[in-house]
Amino acid sequence: MLNNTVTWLSLTQHAKQIKEASITSFFEAEEDRLSQFSIQHEGITYDASKVLMDKRALDLLLFLCEEAELEQWRDKMFAGEHINNTEDRAVLHTALRANPPRDEVENALAKMQRFCESTHKSGKYKDIVNIGIGGSDLGPRMVYHALKDQSKTGLNVHYVANIDGHDLKRVLGECTPETTLFIVASKTFTTIETLTNAHTAKNWITEKGLAVKDHFIALSTNMNAVNAFGIEAQNMFPFEEWVGGRFSLWSSIGLSLALGLGFEAFSQLLEGARNIDEHFKQAPLKENIPVLMGLTGLWHDTFLGFPALACLPYDQRLEYFPLYLQQLDMESNGKAVTKDGFTVSYPTGPVVFGQPGTNGQHAFYQHLHQSPMITPCEFIGVVNPDHPYTEHHKILLSNMIAQSQALMLGKRAPEDQPYRAFSGNRPSTTLLLPELTPYHLGQLIALYEHKTFVQGILWQINSFDQWGVELGKAMAKNLLAENNDADTIDPSTAHLKGLCKI
Ligand code: F6P
Repeated sequence: MLNNTVTWLSLTQHAKQIKEASITSFFEAEEDRLSQFSIQHEGITYDASKVLMDKRALDLLLFLCEEAELEQWRDKMFAGEHINNTEDRAVLHTALRANPPRDEVENALAKMQRFCESTHKSGKYKDIVNIGIGGSDLGPRMVYHALKDQSKTGLNVHYVANIDGHDLKRVLGECTPETTLFIVASKTFTTIETLTNAHTAKNWITEKGLAVKDHFIALSTNMNAVNAFGIEAQNMFPFEEWVGGRFSLWSSIGLSLALGLGFEAFSQLLEGARNIDEHFKQAPLKENIPVLMGLTGLWHDTFLGFPALACLPYDQRLEYFPLYLQQLDMESNGKAVTKDGFTVSYPTGPVVFGQPGTNGQHAFYQHLHQSPMITPCEFIGVVNPDHPYTEHHKILLSNMIAQSQALMLGKRAPEDQPYRAFSGNRPSTTLLLPELTPYHLGQLIALYEHKTFVQGILWQINSFDQWGVELGKAMAKNLLAENNDADTIDPSTAHLKGLCKI
Protein backbone atom coordinates (compact mmCIF):
# COMPACT_ATOMS: atom_id res chain seq x y z
CA MET A 1 0.00 0.00 0.00
CA LEU A 2 1.28 3.43 -0.97
CA ASN A 3 0.38 4.87 2.43
CA ASN A 4 2.80 2.47 4.12
CA THR A 5 5.79 3.65 2.11
CA VAL A 6 8.62 5.67 3.60
CA THR A 7 7.68 8.52 1.28
CA TRP A 8 4.10 8.66 2.53
CA LEU A 9 5.25 8.53 6.15
CA SER A 10 7.81 11.27 5.45
CA LEU A 11 5.09 13.40 3.92
CA THR A 12 2.93 12.85 7.01
CA GLN A 13 5.79 13.93 9.27
CA HIS A 14 6.75 16.84 7.08
CA ALA A 15 3.15 18.10 6.99
CA LYS A 16 3.26 18.55 10.77
CA GLN A 17 6.18 20.98 10.41
CA ILE A 18 4.65 22.74 7.45
CA LYS A 19 1.50 23.47 9.42
CA GLU A 20 3.67 25.61 11.71
CA ALA A 21 5.42 27.38 8.80
CA SER A 22 4.29 30.33 6.69
CA ILE A 23 3.91 30.58 2.94
CA THR A 24 5.74 33.90 2.95
CA SER A 25 8.75 32.27 4.64
CA PHE A 26 8.97 29.85 1.68
CA PHE A 27 9.28 32.82 -0.67
CA GLU A 28 12.16 34.10 1.48
CA ALA A 29 13.90 30.73 1.75
CA GLU A 30 13.40 29.53 -1.82
CA GLU A 31 14.78 32.03 -4.30
CA ASP A 32 13.37 30.30 -7.35
CA ARG A 33 10.01 29.52 -5.72
CA LEU A 34 7.93 31.18 -8.41
CA SER A 35 9.55 29.19 -11.20
CA GLN A 36 9.46 25.95 -9.16
CA PHE A 37 5.79 26.29 -8.36
CA SER A 38 4.40 27.80 -11.54
CA ILE A 39 4.12 26.36 -15.02
CA GLN A 40 3.39 28.02 -18.34
CA HIS A 41 1.97 26.13 -21.25
CA GLU A 42 0.53 27.47 -24.53
CA GLY A 43 -0.77 30.72 -23.10
CA ILE A 44 -1.89 29.18 -19.80
CA THR A 45 -0.22 30.00 -16.49
CA TYR A 46 -0.68 27.86 -13.42
CA ASP A 47 0.72 29.42 -10.25
CA ALA A 48 0.84 27.25 -7.12
CA SER A 49 3.46 29.32 -5.32
CA LYS A 50 0.92 30.63 -2.78
CA VAL A 51 0.34 27.11 -1.47
CA LEU A 52 1.41 25.90 1.96
CA MET A 53 3.92 23.54 0.42
CA ASP A 54 7.70 23.87 0.37
CA LYS A 55 10.26 22.45 -2.01
CA ARG A 56 10.84 19.37 0.15
CA ALA A 57 7.13 18.52 0.19
CA LEU A 58 6.99 18.91 -3.59
CA ASP A 59 10.02 16.66 -4.07
CA LEU A 60 8.48 13.99 -1.83
CA LEU A 61 5.16 14.24 -3.66
CA LEU A 62 6.92 13.88 -7.02
CA PHE A 63 8.67 10.82 -5.66
CA LEU A 64 5.32 9.46 -4.52
CA CYS A 65 4.12 9.75 -8.14
CA GLU A 66 6.93 7.41 -9.15
CA GLU A 67 6.11 4.96 -6.37
CA ALA A 68 2.44 5.03 -7.38
CA GLU A 69 3.51 4.39 -11.01
CA LEU A 70 1.48 7.39 -12.07
CA GLU A 71 3.00 7.54 -15.54
CA GLN A 72 2.37 3.85 -16.13
CA TRP A 73 -1.29 4.26 -15.04
CA ARG A 74 -1.63 7.30 -17.31
CA ASP A 75 -0.33 5.24 -20.23
CA LYS A 76 -2.74 2.42 -19.37
CA MET A 77 -5.63 4.91 -19.49
CA PHE A 78 -4.58 6.29 -22.88
CA ALA A 79 -4.04 2.74 -24.19
CA GLY A 80 -7.58 1.71 -23.29
CA GLU A 81 -6.78 -0.83 -20.56
CA HIS A 82 -9.71 -1.56 -18.28
CA ILE A 83 -8.60 0.71 -15.44
CA ASN A 84 -12.22 1.12 -14.32
CA ASN A 85 -11.98 -2.26 -12.59
CA THR A 86 -15.34 -2.39 -10.79
CA GLU A 87 -17.18 -1.95 -14.09
CA ASP A 88 -14.53 -3.73 -16.16
CA ARG A 89 -14.30 -0.82 -18.61
CA ALA A 90 -11.71 1.20 -20.43
CA VAL A 91 -11.56 4.94 -19.73
CA LEU A 92 -11.06 6.52 -23.12
CA HIS A 93 -12.53 10.01 -23.20
CA THR A 94 -9.12 11.12 -24.51
CA ALA A 95 -9.79 9.02 -27.65
CA LEU A 96 -12.73 11.33 -28.42
CA ARG A 97 -10.30 14.15 -29.14
CA ALA A 98 -7.31 12.17 -30.42
CA ASN A 99 -5.84 12.85 -33.84
CA PRO A 100 -6.04 10.72 -35.93
CA PRO A 101 -9.35 9.52 -34.47
CA ARG A 102 -10.46 5.89 -34.11
CA ASP A 103 -12.97 4.80 -36.74
CA GLU A 104 -16.02 4.87 -34.46
CA VAL A 105 -15.11 8.36 -33.23
CA GLU A 106 -14.57 9.64 -36.75
CA ASN A 107 -17.95 8.23 -37.82
CA ALA A 108 -19.73 9.71 -34.81
CA LEU A 109 -18.16 13.13 -35.42
CA ALA A 110 -19.03 12.99 -39.12
CA LYS A 111 -22.67 12.20 -38.28
CA MET A 112 -22.77 15.10 -35.80
CA GLN A 113 -21.27 17.45 -38.37
CA ARG A 114 -23.74 16.45 -41.09
CA PHE A 115 -26.64 16.93 -38.68
CA CYS A 116 -25.38 20.34 -37.57
CA GLU A 117 -24.95 21.51 -41.15
CA SER A 118 -28.39 20.34 -42.27
CA THR A 119 -30.07 21.77 -39.16
CA HIS A 120 -28.39 25.14 -39.54
CA LYS A 121 -29.23 25.22 -43.24
CA SER A 122 -32.88 24.23 -42.81
CA GLY A 123 -33.67 27.00 -40.33
CA LYS A 124 -36.37 24.62 -39.02
CA TYR A 125 -35.62 25.09 -35.33
CA LYS A 126 -35.25 28.10 -33.08
CA ASP A 127 -34.85 26.28 -29.77
CA ILE A 128 -32.86 23.20 -28.84
CA VAL A 129 -33.73 21.57 -25.51
CA ASN A 130 -31.14 19.19 -24.07
CA ILE A 131 -32.82 16.82 -21.63
CA GLY A 132 -30.19 15.02 -19.53
CA ILE A 133 -28.72 15.00 -16.04
CA GLY A 134 -25.31 14.64 -14.37
CA GLY A 135 -22.65 14.17 -17.03
CA SER A 136 -25.32 14.36 -19.74
CA ASP A 137 -26.06 17.92 -18.63
CA LEU A 138 -23.37 19.62 -16.53
CA GLY A 139 -20.49 19.63 -19.02
CA PRO A 140 -22.52 20.75 -22.07
CA ARG A 141 -24.47 23.28 -19.97
CA MET A 142 -21.25 24.76 -18.58
CA VAL A 143 -19.57 25.03 -21.99
CA TYR A 144 -22.66 26.43 -23.71
CA HIS A 145 -23.04 29.21 -21.16
CA ALA A 146 -19.33 29.99 -21.32
CA LEU A 147 -19.29 30.43 -25.09
CA LYS A 148 -22.83 31.27 -26.20
CA ASP A 149 -22.13 34.98 -26.59
CA GLN A 150 -19.63 34.13 -29.33
CA SER A 151 -22.13 31.99 -31.25
CA LYS A 152 -23.57 33.01 -34.59
CA THR A 153 -25.84 29.99 -35.16
CA GLY A 154 -28.99 31.84 -34.09
CA LEU A 155 -30.10 28.76 -32.13
CA ASN A 156 -31.04 29.07 -28.49
CA VAL A 157 -30.07 26.06 -26.37
CA HIS A 158 -31.86 25.23 -23.11
CA TYR A 159 -30.92 22.58 -20.56
CA VAL A 160 -33.45 20.63 -18.51
CA ALA A 161 -32.09 18.26 -15.88
CA ASN A 162 -34.22 18.19 -12.75
CA ILE A 163 -37.15 15.81 -12.33
CA ASP A 164 -38.85 18.81 -10.73
CA GLY A 165 -41.57 19.73 -13.23
CA HIS A 166 -40.83 23.42 -12.68
CA ASP A 167 -37.60 22.98 -14.64
CA LEU A 168 -39.31 21.60 -17.76
CA LYS A 169 -42.31 23.91 -17.43
CA ARG A 170 -40.12 27.01 -17.46
CA VAL A 171 -38.26 25.89 -20.58
CA LEU A 172 -41.40 24.76 -22.45
CA GLY A 173 -42.86 28.18 -21.67
CA GLU A 174 -40.00 29.75 -23.63
CA CYS A 175 -40.38 27.47 -26.68
CA THR A 176 -42.86 26.81 -29.49
CA PRO A 177 -43.50 23.13 -30.37
CA GLU A 178 -43.19 23.63 -34.15
CA THR A 179 -39.68 25.12 -33.90
CA THR A 180 -38.23 23.08 -31.01
CA LEU A 181 -35.83 20.15 -31.19
CA PHE A 182 -35.43 17.96 -28.11
CA ILE A 183 -32.16 16.16 -27.52
CA VAL A 184 -32.59 13.29 -25.09
CA ALA A 185 -29.10 12.80 -23.69
CA SER A 186 -28.56 9.72 -21.57
CA LYS A 187 -25.75 7.22 -21.71
CA THR A 188 -27.89 4.46 -20.22
CA PHE A 189 -31.29 5.74 -21.36
CA THR A 190 -32.69 4.43 -18.09
CA THR A 191 -32.27 7.52 -15.89
CA ILE A 192 -35.65 8.31 -14.34
CA GLU A 193 -35.26 12.11 -14.42
CA THR A 194 -34.35 12.18 -18.10
CA LEU A 195 -36.94 9.66 -19.24
CA THR A 196 -39.75 11.32 -17.26
CA ASN A 197 -38.87 14.74 -18.70
CA ALA A 198 -38.51 13.26 -22.19
CA HIS A 199 -41.93 11.58 -22.03
CA THR A 200 -43.60 14.81 -20.90
CA ALA A 201 -41.85 16.69 -23.72
CA LYS A 202 -43.00 14.00 -26.16
CA ASN A 203 -46.62 14.55 -25.10
CA TRP A 204 -46.14 18.30 -25.55
CA ILE A 205 -45.07 17.66 -29.15
CA THR A 206 -47.55 14.92 -30.11
CA GLU A 207 -50.59 16.64 -28.63
CA LYS A 208 -49.99 19.37 -31.23
CA GLY A 209 -50.15 16.68 -33.94
CA LEU A 210 -46.39 16.90 -34.57
CA ALA A 211 -44.20 13.86 -35.26
CA VAL A 212 -41.59 12.57 -32.79
CA LYS A 213 -39.17 11.94 -35.65
CA ASP A 214 -39.11 15.65 -36.51
CA HIS A 215 -38.60 16.87 -32.95
CA PHE A 216 -36.54 14.29 -31.06
CA ILE A 217 -33.06 12.93 -31.32
CA ALA A 218 -31.21 10.76 -28.81
CA LEU A 219 -27.60 10.63 -27.59
CA SER A 220 -27.00 7.28 -25.99
CA THR A 221 -25.24 3.94 -25.90
CA ASN A 222 -28.54 2.05 -25.51
CA MET A 223 -30.11 1.55 -28.94
CA ASN A 224 -32.95 -0.69 -27.68
CA ALA A 225 -34.17 1.79 -25.09
CA VAL A 226 -33.94 4.64 -27.61
CA ASN A 227 -36.06 2.64 -30.07
CA ALA A 228 -38.55 1.76 -27.34
CA PHE A 229 -38.96 5.48 -26.64
CA GLY A 230 -39.88 5.98 -30.29
CA ILE A 231 -36.67 7.45 -31.72
CA GLU A 232 -35.37 5.74 -34.83
CA ALA A 233 -31.76 4.67 -35.40
CA GLN A 234 -30.99 7.48 -37.85
CA ASN A 235 -31.94 10.01 -35.17
CA MET A 236 -29.69 8.44 -32.57
CA PHE A 237 -26.12 9.61 -32.06
CA PRO A 238 -24.22 6.79 -30.39
CA PHE A 239 -21.07 6.69 -28.32
CA GLU A 240 -19.12 3.93 -26.66
CA GLU A 241 -19.46 2.57 -23.14
CA TRP A 242 -15.85 3.56 -22.47
CA VAL A 243 -17.00 7.17 -22.24
CA GLY A 244 -17.81 7.90 -18.60
CA GLY A 245 -20.78 10.20 -17.95
CA ARG A 246 -18.79 13.05 -16.36
CA PHE A 247 -16.18 12.82 -19.15
CA SER A 248 -18.71 12.67 -21.99
CA LEU A 249 -19.07 16.23 -23.26
CA TRP A 250 -16.51 15.43 -25.98
CA SER A 251 -18.71 12.66 -27.38
CA SER A 252 -22.15 12.82 -29.01
CA ILE A 253 -23.28 14.12 -25.61
CA GLY A 254 -21.79 17.43 -26.81
CA LEU A 255 -24.23 17.67 -29.74
CA SER A 256 -26.10 20.58 -28.12
CA LEU A 257 -22.75 22.43 -28.21
CA ALA A 258 -22.06 21.62 -31.84
CA LEU A 259 -25.59 22.78 -32.72
CA GLY A 260 -25.67 25.83 -30.49
CA LEU A 261 -22.10 27.06 -30.92
CA GLY A 262 -21.32 25.62 -34.35
CA PHE A 263 -19.36 22.52 -35.30
CA GLU A 264 -16.17 24.55 -35.74
CA ALA A 265 -16.33 25.75 -32.11
CA PHE A 266 -16.91 22.15 -30.97
CA SER A 267 -13.86 21.02 -32.97
CA GLN A 268 -11.78 23.77 -31.36
CA LEU A 269 -12.90 22.60 -27.93
CA LEU A 270 -11.67 19.10 -28.75
CA GLU A 271 -8.41 20.51 -30.05
CA GLY A 272 -7.75 22.41 -26.83
CA ALA A 273 -8.35 19.25 -24.81
CA ARG A 274 -6.05 17.29 -27.14
CA ASN A 275 -3.32 19.84 -26.53
CA ILE A 276 -3.53 19.17 -22.79
CA ASP A 277 -3.63 15.40 -23.35
CA GLU A 278 -0.28 15.75 -25.13
CA HIS A 279 1.09 17.97 -22.38
CA PHE A 280 -0.05 15.47 -19.74
CA LYS A 281 1.59 12.61 -21.64
CA GLN A 282 4.84 14.35 -22.49
CA ALA A 283 5.81 16.99 -19.93
CA PRO A 284 8.11 15.80 -17.15
CA LEU A 285 6.19 15.39 -13.90
CA LYS A 286 7.46 18.58 -12.31
CA GLU A 287 6.58 20.66 -15.38
CA ASN A 288 3.23 19.01 -15.83
CA ILE A 289 0.25 21.22 -14.92
CA PRO A 290 -2.33 18.50 -14.12
CA VAL A 291 0.30 16.69 -12.04
CA LEU A 292 1.08 19.81 -10.01
CA MET A 293 -2.65 20.52 -9.65
CA GLY A 294 -3.24 16.97 -8.43
CA LEU A 295 -0.32 17.00 -6.01
CA THR A 296 -1.48 20.29 -4.55
CA GLY A 297 -4.93 18.83 -3.95
CA LEU A 298 -3.54 15.63 -2.44
CA TRP A 299 -1.28 17.61 -0.12
CA HIS A 300 -4.19 19.79 1.03
CA ASP A 301 -6.73 17.02 1.58
CA THR A 302 -4.68 14.13 2.81
CA PHE A 303 -1.59 15.54 4.47
CA LEU A 304 -2.78 18.94 5.72
CA GLY A 305 -6.35 17.77 6.41
CA PHE A 306 -8.25 20.56 4.59
CA PRO A 307 -11.55 18.92 3.63
CA ALA A 308 -12.96 21.44 1.13
CA LEU A 309 -11.98 23.19 -2.07
CA ALA A 310 -13.29 26.53 -3.35
CA CYS A 311 -13.46 26.82 -7.14
CA LEU A 312 -13.42 30.54 -7.92
CA PRO A 313 -13.63 31.50 -11.59
CA TYR A 314 -13.32 35.27 -12.00
CA ASP A 315 -15.40 35.25 -15.16
CA GLN A 316 -19.17 35.34 -15.27
CA ARG A 317 -19.17 33.15 -18.37
CA LEU A 318 -17.76 30.33 -16.20
CA GLU A 319 -20.78 30.54 -13.91
CA TYR A 320 -21.47 26.82 -14.23
CA PHE A 321 -17.86 25.71 -13.89
CA PRO A 322 -18.00 25.04 -10.10
CA LEU A 323 -21.14 22.93 -10.60
CA TYR A 324 -19.50 20.97 -13.40
CA LEU A 325 -16.39 20.49 -11.26
CA GLN A 326 -18.48 19.23 -8.35
CA GLN A 327 -19.51 16.20 -10.36
CA LEU A 328 -16.12 15.69 -11.97
CA ASP A 329 -14.24 15.80 -8.68
CA MET A 330 -16.72 14.54 -6.09
CA GLU A 331 -18.28 11.72 -8.14
CA SER A 332 -14.79 10.61 -9.17
CA ASN A 333 -12.86 10.87 -5.92
CA GLY A 334 -15.41 10.88 -3.09
CA LYS A 335 -14.53 7.27 -2.24
CA ALA A 336 -13.33 5.23 0.72
CA VAL A 337 -12.29 1.92 -0.84
CA THR A 338 -9.12 1.33 -2.86
CA LYS A 339 -9.05 -0.35 -6.25
CA ASP A 340 -7.97 -3.50 -4.41
CA GLY A 341 -10.92 -3.37 -2.05
CA PHE A 342 -9.26 -2.02 1.11
CA THR A 343 -10.80 0.74 3.19
CA VAL A 344 -8.64 3.85 3.04
CA SER A 345 -7.22 5.32 6.23
CA TYR A 346 -6.78 8.84 4.87
CA PRO A 347 -9.03 11.60 3.53
CA THR A 348 -9.69 11.48 -0.23
CA GLY A 349 -11.53 13.97 -2.49
CA PRO A 350 -12.70 17.29 -1.02
CA VAL A 351 -16.08 18.99 -0.87
CA VAL A 352 -16.09 21.28 -3.90
CA PHE A 353 -18.06 24.49 -4.00
CA GLY A 354 -17.81 27.94 -5.49
CA GLN A 355 -19.25 30.65 -7.64
CA PRO A 356 -17.86 33.32 -9.89
CA GLY A 357 -15.92 36.21 -8.47
CA THR A 358 -16.67 38.83 -7.35
CA ASN A 359 -20.14 37.53 -6.37
CA GLY A 360 -18.61 34.95 -4.04
CA GLN A 361 -16.71 37.69 -2.21
CA HIS A 362 -20.04 39.02 -0.97
CA ALA A 363 -21.27 35.59 0.04
CA PHE A 364 -18.80 33.09 1.49
CA TYR A 365 -15.36 34.78 1.47
CA GLN A 366 -15.86 35.79 5.10
CA HIS A 367 -15.50 32.07 5.86
CA LEU A 368 -12.48 31.72 3.56
CA HIS A 369 -10.63 34.53 5.37
CA GLN A 370 -11.58 34.13 9.02
CA SER A 371 -13.07 30.71 9.74
CA PRO A 372 -10.85 28.40 11.80
CA MET A 373 -11.55 25.83 9.07
CA ILE A 374 -9.11 26.42 6.22
CA THR A 375 -10.34 26.05 2.64
CA PRO A 376 -7.80 25.99 -0.19
CA CYS A 377 -8.92 28.20 -3.07
CA GLU A 378 -8.46 27.75 -6.81
CA PHE A 379 -8.72 31.04 -8.67
CA ILE A 380 -9.33 30.98 -12.42
CA GLY A 381 -8.91 34.18 -14.43
CA VAL A 382 -9.16 35.16 -18.09
CA VAL A 383 -6.64 37.84 -19.05
CA ASN A 384 -8.39 39.29 -22.11
CA PRO A 385 -12.14 39.83 -21.86
CA ASP A 386 -14.66 39.76 -24.67
CA HIS A 387 -16.31 43.08 -23.82
CA PRO A 388 -15.27 46.71 -24.20
CA TYR A 389 -15.51 47.70 -20.51
CA THR A 390 -11.81 47.81 -19.65
CA GLU A 391 -12.37 49.33 -16.25
CA HIS A 392 -14.66 46.46 -15.18
CA HIS A 393 -12.04 43.94 -16.13
CA LYS A 394 -9.24 45.67 -14.26
CA ILE A 395 -11.38 45.80 -11.12
CA LEU A 396 -12.38 42.14 -11.56
CA LEU A 397 -8.86 40.79 -11.93
CA SER A 398 -7.33 43.04 -9.29
CA ASN A 399 -9.93 41.64 -6.91
CA MET A 400 -8.94 38.11 -7.84
CA ILE A 401 -5.23 38.74 -7.29
CA ALA A 402 -5.87 40.74 -4.11
CA GLN A 403 -7.90 37.86 -2.66
CA SER A 404 -5.04 35.41 -3.14
CA GLN A 405 -2.66 37.97 -1.60
CA ALA A 406 -4.96 38.64 1.36
CA LEU A 407 -5.48 34.93 2.00
CA MET A 408 -1.72 34.46 2.14
CA LEU A 409 -0.64 37.59 4.02
CA GLY A 410 -3.50 38.10 6.45
CA LYS A 411 -3.50 41.14 8.72
CA ARG A 412 -2.92 41.82 12.38
CA ALA A 413 -5.69 43.45 14.37
CA PRO A 414 -5.53 46.04 17.14
CA GLU A 415 -5.49 44.20 20.47
CA ASP A 416 -8.92 45.43 21.47
CA GLN A 417 -10.45 44.41 18.10
CA PRO A 418 -9.56 40.74 17.63
CA TYR A 419 -12.48 40.30 15.24
CA ARG A 420 -10.53 42.32 12.66
CA ALA A 421 -7.66 39.84 12.52
CA PHE A 422 -6.89 37.81 9.42
CA SER A 423 -4.68 34.86 10.25
CA GLY A 424 -3.45 34.59 6.65
CA ASN A 425 -1.31 31.66 5.54
CA ARG A 426 -4.30 30.32 3.60
CA PRO A 427 -3.34 28.50 0.42
CA SER A 428 -4.54 29.32 -3.06
CA THR A 429 -3.59 28.60 -6.66
CA THR A 430 -4.25 30.78 -9.69
CA LEU A 431 -4.83 29.55 -13.22
CA LEU A 432 -4.84 32.14 -16.00
CA LEU A 433 -6.20 31.64 -19.51
CA PRO A 434 -5.32 34.21 -22.19
CA GLU A 435 -8.94 34.37 -23.39
CA LEU A 436 -12.09 32.29 -23.19
CA THR A 437 -12.12 30.71 -26.63
CA PRO A 438 -13.40 27.17 -27.29
CA TYR A 439 -9.75 26.07 -27.55
CA HIS A 440 -8.69 27.47 -24.17
CA LEU A 441 -11.88 26.23 -22.51
CA GLY A 442 -11.10 22.76 -23.87
CA GLN A 443 -7.67 23.06 -22.28
CA LEU A 444 -9.13 24.14 -18.94
CA ILE A 445 -11.57 21.22 -18.78
CA ALA A 446 -8.93 18.66 -19.74
CA LEU A 447 -6.58 20.03 -17.08
CA TYR A 448 -9.18 19.34 -14.42
CA GLU A 449 -10.00 15.91 -15.86
CA HIS A 450 -6.36 14.89 -15.62
CA LYS A 451 -5.95 16.48 -12.19
CA THR A 452 -8.82 14.26 -11.04
CA PHE A 453 -7.11 11.22 -12.53
CA VAL A 454 -3.75 12.03 -10.86
CA GLN A 455 -5.40 12.29 -7.47
CA GLY A 456 -7.32 9.04 -7.91
CA ILE A 457 -4.08 7.20 -8.67
CA LEU A 458 -2.34 8.61 -5.60
CA TRP A 459 -5.33 7.76 -3.41
CA GLN A 460 -5.38 4.31 -5.08
CA ILE A 461 -9.10 4.55 -5.75
CA ASN A 462 -11.11 3.93 -8.90
CA SER A 463 -12.06 7.44 -10.07
CA PHE A 464 -14.30 6.12 -12.82
CA ASP A 465 -17.19 4.36 -11.09
CA GLN A 466 -19.99 5.93 -9.00
CA TRP A 467 -21.58 3.24 -6.85
CA GLY A 468 -22.42 5.83 -4.22
CA VAL A 469 -25.31 7.19 -6.27
CA GLU A 470 -27.19 3.87 -6.31
CA LEU A 471 -28.66 3.45 -2.81
CA GLY A 472 -30.70 6.66 -2.76
CA LYS A 473 -32.07 5.94 -6.24
CA ALA A 474 -33.20 2.45 -5.19
CA MET A 475 -34.83 3.74 -2.02
CA ALA A 476 -36.73 6.46 -3.92
CA LYS A 477 -38.06 3.74 -6.22
CA ASN A 478 -39.13 1.72 -3.21
CA LEU A 479 -40.93 4.69 -1.63
CA LEU A 480 -42.77 5.27 -4.90
CA ALA A 481 -43.82 1.63 -5.24
CA GLU A 482 -47.47 0.99 -4.42
CA ASN A 483 -46.74 -2.19 -2.55
CA ASN A 484 -43.85 -1.05 -0.39
CA ASP A 485 -43.88 -2.42 3.10
CA ALA A 486 -44.75 0.65 5.20
CA ASP A 487 -44.05 -1.28 8.43
CA THR A 488 -40.36 -1.64 7.63
CA ILE A 489 -39.89 2.11 7.12
CA ASP A 490 -38.46 4.07 10.06
CA PRO A 491 -40.82 6.56 11.77
CA SER A 492 -39.14 9.70 10.40
CA THR A 493 -39.22 8.45 6.81
CA ALA A 494 -42.81 7.26 7.14
CA HIS A 495 -43.86 10.63 8.61
CA LEU A 496 -42.18 12.62 5.82
CA LYS A 497 -43.65 10.30 3.18
CA GLY A 498 -47.12 10.97 4.56
CA LEU A 499 -46.62 14.74 4.69
CA CYS A 500 -45.36 14.74 1.08
CA LYS A 501 -48.44 12.76 -0.03
CA ILE A 502 -46.40 10.03 -1.74
O1 F6P B 1 -25.41 10.42 -11.10
C1 F6P B 1 -25.13 9.16 -11.55
C2 F6P B 1 -24.97 9.11 -13.05
O2 F6P B 1 -24.81 7.79 -13.43
C3 F6P B 1 -23.82 9.97 -13.56
O3 F6P B 1 -22.59 9.38 -13.45
C4 F6P B 1 -24.27 10.24 -14.95
O4 F6P B 1 -23.53 11.28 -15.51
C5 F6P B 1 -25.73 10.54 -14.73
O5 F6P B 1 -26.12 9.63 -13.73
C6 F6P B 1 -26.62 10.44 -15.93
O6 F6P B 1 -26.60 9.17 -16.49
P1 F6P B 1 -27.18 8.88 -17.94
O7 F6P B 1 -26.37 9.67 -18.91
O8 F6P B 1 -27.05 7.42 -18.14
O9 F6P B 1 -28.61 9.35 -17.96
